[in-house]
Amino acid sequence: MQAKKISERITWMGAVDWNRRLFDSLIPLPEGTSYNAYLLRGSERCALIDTVDPAKSDLLMAQLANVEKIDFIVSQHSEQDHAGTIPLVMEKYPQAKVLCSDKARDMLIDHLHLDPERIQAVADGDIISLGDRSLRFVYTPWVHWPETMCTFCEEEGILFSCDLFGSHIATSALYAEENPQVELAAKRYYAEIMMPFRSFIKKHLDKIQTLNFSMIAPSHGPVYNKPDFILNAYKNWISNDVANKVVIPYISMHGSTEAMVTHLVSALDARGIEVHPFDLSVTDIGELAMALVDAATIVIGTPTVLFGPHPLVFSATHLANALRPKLRFAAIIGSYGWGTKAAEQLTELIPHLKVDVLGVVMCKGFPREEDIKNLDTLAQNILEQHRGLEKAVAE
Ligand code: FEO
Repeated sequence: MQAKKISERITWMGAVDWNRRLFDSLIPLPEGTSYNAYLLRGSERCALIDTVDPAKSDLLMAQLANVEKIDFIVSQHSEQDHAGTIPLVMEKYPQAKVLCSDKARDMLIDHLHLDPERIQAVADGDIISLGDRSLRFVYTPWVHWPETMCTFCEEEGILFSCDLFGSHIATSALYAEENPQVELAAKRYYAEIMMPFRSFIKKHLDKIQTLNFSMIAPSHGPVYNKPDFILNAYKNWISNDVANKVVIPYISMHGSTEAMVTHLVSALDARGIEVHPFDLSVTDIGELAMALVDAATIVIGTPTVLFGPHPLVFSATHLANALRPKLRFAAIIGSYGWGTKAAEQLTELIPHLKVDVLGVVMCKGFPREEDIKNLDTLAQNILEQHRGLEKAVAE
């Protein structure tokens, strides 16, 4: 992809990674991703904001071929998908200094072995002049590592946000406009990466909204030329509101847990509750994470393997706990052949979920009438708890 002009002074550079399908050897990227860098030319100095994943270094270096001078390389985030090409850029521009947050300094040295003499830490609110353009650094820790910051160019009315507001989508479009496909990709990104940091994001939104910008340029996905599009989506995702919705990640080995899930799905649906079962043997965990963004309740379904939960259920429960969605209630259902500790073990896996555990329904062998009744009781309990939440919101 060629470099693209955003304005006379700002150029998008970077790489669209059309074929990447996994991030951190964990997160599915069904639509690929991009690593965005931005070149900002002031009348006196020139800055490059972020770089690209080392796998795509050649693309960025080709785009920089005719750029004679870079004075500052702004590293908003030390993770390698943004910082990984900094060593090559430093080599090409030996006079360039790396600007980063105080916390990022050691991280860049540890991860990339950068020369400490060429790193200059900037404080929250610091302004660096490029002549007739300037960069103001806005500390925004934990989006997504503790050292992350955004950069604001007042004269251009643009906020560079790195991971914050990013979307994992490969596209040749420079701008997001109000494309629902981008919103969905941004939601997946939020669910997989940003959701654990919801309380930080709330504070960051308050802070950045004091800035006067008409564009948000993240380091993944297209540029938001209508920033309210993504700001409003984030306000919705990070709000305390939950939907009348149940998410059921489950595994079944011989059909018993599947039969319980099938019945519970019908029982919840009959009560007007939105329900999303996810068979973990075939589920894209990003879809599961997205469903958890606003669900009120999680019901975990597992057969018993060696007295504990199925390993895939163990893994998904651990992930749900780490993502810290705003769930209010949980329940466990499943089956066993002769003995089980699965429910106890799963309950211990979710300390970060601030949930009331509404019940455990474990059946021996294939579910009998009594087990089905217990599932109906659970569905009714979930309905009443959800109604209680709606009532509390209305009051
Ligand atoms: Fe896009 Fe946290 O790196």
